[in-house]
Amino acid sequence: MSDRIDSLSDYFKRYEESIADPEQFWEKIAKQFHWQKPWDTVLDWDFEGPNITWFKNAKLNLTENIFEKQRFADENKIAILWEPNDPQEDSRKISYKELFERTGQFANAMLEQGVEKGDRVIIYMPMVPEAAIAMLACARIGAVHSVVFAGFSATALADRINDCSAKMVLTSDGNFRGAKKIPVKEVVDEALKHTTTISKVIVYQRTGQAVTMEAGRDVWWHDAIAGVPSENTPESMDAEDLLFILYTSGSTGKPKGVAHTTAGYMLYTYYTFRNVFQYESDDVYWCTADVGWITGHSYIVYGPLLAGATTLMFEGVPTYPDAGRFWDIIDKYKVNQFYTAPTAIRALQACGLEPLEGHSLDSIKVIGSVGEPINEEAWHWYHHHIGKGRCPLVDTWWQTETGGIMISPLAGITPNKPAHASLPLPGIQPVIVDAEGVELKGNNVEGNLCIRFPWPGMIRTTYGDHERCKNTYFSTYPGMYFTGDGVKRDHDGYLRILGRVDDVINVSGHRMGTAEVENAINEHPNVIESAVVGYPHDIKGQGIYAFAICDSKGLTDAALIAGIKDTVRDIIGPIAKPDQVQIVSGLPKTRSGKIMRRILRKVASKDISNMGDTSTLLNPEVVDEIIKGAGIQ
Ligand code: WT7
Repeated sequence: MSDRIDSLSDYFKRYEESIADPEQFWEKIAKQFHWQKPWDTVLDWDFEGPNITWFKNAKLNLTENIFEKQRFADENKIAILWEPNDPQEDSRKISYKELFERTGQFANAMLEQGVEKGDRVIIYMPMVPEAAIAMLACARIGAVHSVVFAGFSATALADRINDCSAKMVLTSDGNFRGAKKIPVKEVVDEALKHTTTISKVIVYQRTGQAVTMEAGRDVWWHDAIAGVPSENTPESMDAEDLLFILYTSGSTGKPKGVAHTTAGYMLYTYYTFRNVFQYESDDVYWCTADVGWITGHSYIVYGPLLAGATTLMFEGVPTYPDAGRFWDIIDKYKVNQFYTAPTAIRALQACGLEPLEGHSLDSIKVIGSVGEPINEEAWHWYHHHIGKGRCPLVDTWWQTETGGIMISPLAGITPNKPAHASLPLPGIQPVIVDAEGVELKGNNVEGNLCIRFPWPGMIRTTYGDHERCKNTYFSTYPGMYFTGDGVKRDHDGYLRILGRVDDVINVSGHRMGTAEVENAINEHPNVIESAVVGYPHDIKGQGIYAFAICDSKGLTDAALIAGIKDTVRDIIGPIAKPDQVQIVSGLPKTRSGKIMRRILRKVASKDISNMGDTSTLLNPEVVDEIIKGAGIQ
């Protein structure tokens, strides 16, 4: 039986099967993979621990299922197409055979540099094929990778290295991003002043800019692989051995290391990639994400490669050298499936239709959206101007923690409904609950989104702190995984994601914890207290609005605001820099001292209707001052 769903009735049939007997459903899919040793049981689980075991005691190596046991493609098929930041520079084409050799060679090089099975390896690299090779080489030898987006600051990088006691960093000299050249190695050097566990740094030469190499610690990538053979015996991994850790922000201050394991993640990314995008064997698939995020892990690297697909990797940004760059690339490579984020769509929509002129975009069969709710206007623009009204649009809802797509139309199969993630994938059992955890059944209901049954790609733990995993996801509504998102089930039973219901802001499809940004702001020497909220932003979806109480010490507000923005950029990275900072003399607080964020959210979104009762506040007078200060009255 093929695991490819081919019609709506087929979808409903398989969905029913996956709910009636989940173990049998996933076991059938698992049997298509190569296992060094079969499983004892398909699934053992409880959501109290939580303890989740898929394919107990089975042994495998994920990369063996991409290379030696590649079930779909011939070895000369192109695995990775690479488009550089600068369109004048040569592009690259890497076949499955070459990718296999390079992965084996780099795996051997890492072993030579002292990495052992189970060690954590940080990947802090630009969007070059070597970033994917690094991930695959880790999987090959059983090292646990943790990719850190190369836009994060030295402090953020050091925090992640320390949290997982990483042994090695894989990085580059620099990084081309649009017209900018970013000094990546310099950031690593700075970070390593605050860590003690790193013994080796391997540096890929990308920009050729001058860097300092510390003797005994730093090795050039080209030197590390020189003369190293590509034959490598894959490490035998337990189904539940860690594949990777990826840090993501939550409602508490410190980012947490979401841990994914080998077999379940492998199955889930493969299955969802095949079915959501309806990839066919000669297609060229392009996901515009960065490998530093889960989308890059699951849908640039693992899912497509496990399915034997040709995956395009783009180093640059949508607006360089001009706003037609995405469309140039689509025509150049005849891209068939195009997967991007609403923030990119809105930014390109704002550039008007001129950049689209002279582009055919005829090759596109499927367009996709991910990372944040897509507003209807952007949905229609994308569908009409990029999909030309003929391509299905898959609005894919999922999270770092879910490992892969959970709720989405299947391209060409599920009828499209603007701004609706639509229906759950087979094996996924969404539940809508009210604030008390009571399930809201039937259609026309709105509440919090939970999942009641395990799926193979789900989070297993938060690295080094299992309690935190339990508290964050499994305690709010006992017996269920809580997503943190609000959702509506409409009259047809289609799901529409409404956005976060916790203190997490989604900025340009990137998750930011308000507490994390507040902690950074509070590091500014003049800041006494701060509160951060999200507000609607035309391009980014949500912007970051910070209120700060300062001891100005003679500084002007303008100087304080600039200083606060710089502080956040230095501590977390440019993506966390507040869009708006307002200096205030107080923050609205309840009598128990809790900040009333609801009021701040209203002010930030410049909508002060229905402010609710503010008379019970400890300091009601501060509300008027804040409203005035925001320029609303
Ligand atoms: C949060 C997860 C999924 C990979 C990229 C982001 C929001 C994601 C959608 C969508 C509405 C979406 C949710 C979710 N989100 N996709 N199609 N429609 N909201 O991963 O950083 O883990 O963020 O992104 O709020 O909880 P992430």
